[in-house]
Amino acid sequence: MEHFPAKFDAPAQRRLLGELRRIIAEAPLFVPTMPRSGKEMSVRMTNCGPLGWVTDKERGYRYQATHPVTGKPWPNMPRVLLDLWNEVARYPAPPEACLVNYYAASAKMGLHQDKDEADFSAPVVSVSLGDTGIFRVGGTTRKGPIRALELKSGDVVVLDGEDRLAYHGIDRILPGSSDLLAEGGRFNLTLRRVTKP
Ligand code: SIN
Ligand code: FE2
Repeated sequence: MEHFPAKFDAPAQRRLLGELRRIIAEAPLFVPTMPRSGKEMSVRMTNCGPLGWVTDKERGYRYQATHPVTGKPWPNMPRVLLDLWNEVARYPAPPEACLVNYYAASAKMGLHQDKDEADFSAPVVSVSLGDTGIFRVGGTTRKGPIRALELKSGDVVVLDGEDRLAYHGIDRILPGSSDLLAEGGRFNLTLRRVTKP
C-alpha cells in the first residue's frame, strides 16, 4: 500500500470538487443497499466512467454502465483522475470505474475487500476530499493485525500487489476537520480497472 499525503493541494482539491459537483448534478447520489438483507449502507454513492459499482437487495454487488435510478450512462471520468491513474497506477490500461462515496458525519464503511473486478493485477487508487477519515487496513484475511491511518483531504492511497485484496474500511470520519465541503463530510473517489484489457 502506498499513501501519498496531500497529493492534491488546496487549489487542486477545489478544482476536483468542482468536477465532482458536476458529476453529482448529472448522476445524483443514491442510497446503496446490501445484498439479500436490503439494509441501507450509511454512505451515499454515485460513479463516473464507463462502468459504475452499484449494490442493491435484489441483484447484489456489480458493475453496470448506467445509474440505477436515472438509467442514464455515468458521466465521463474527469481528465485529472485519468492523469492521477497514469502517474501512480503502473498499469497499461485506463481505469473503467470511479466510485464516489459520500460520508455524512456518522457514515462509515465496514471492513471489506474490493473483489468484484476481473483483474486484480490493476491497483485500486483512491482520493479523499473533505473531512478526515479514519482508514483501517489489514491483510487478505479477516484475521491478523489491522492498522489505522488518517486520510486527509487531498490524500491518495494505492492498494497494489499483495495489498490489492487487503481488507479495508472507514471506522468513522472526523466531522469539522476540513472546510473544503460547505455541507461538511467526506468524499472518497475510488478508481478501478474492472475488465482485463
Ligand atoms: C471504499 O473502500 O470503498 C472506501 C474507502 C474510503 O472511503 O477511503
Ligand atoms: Fe473498498
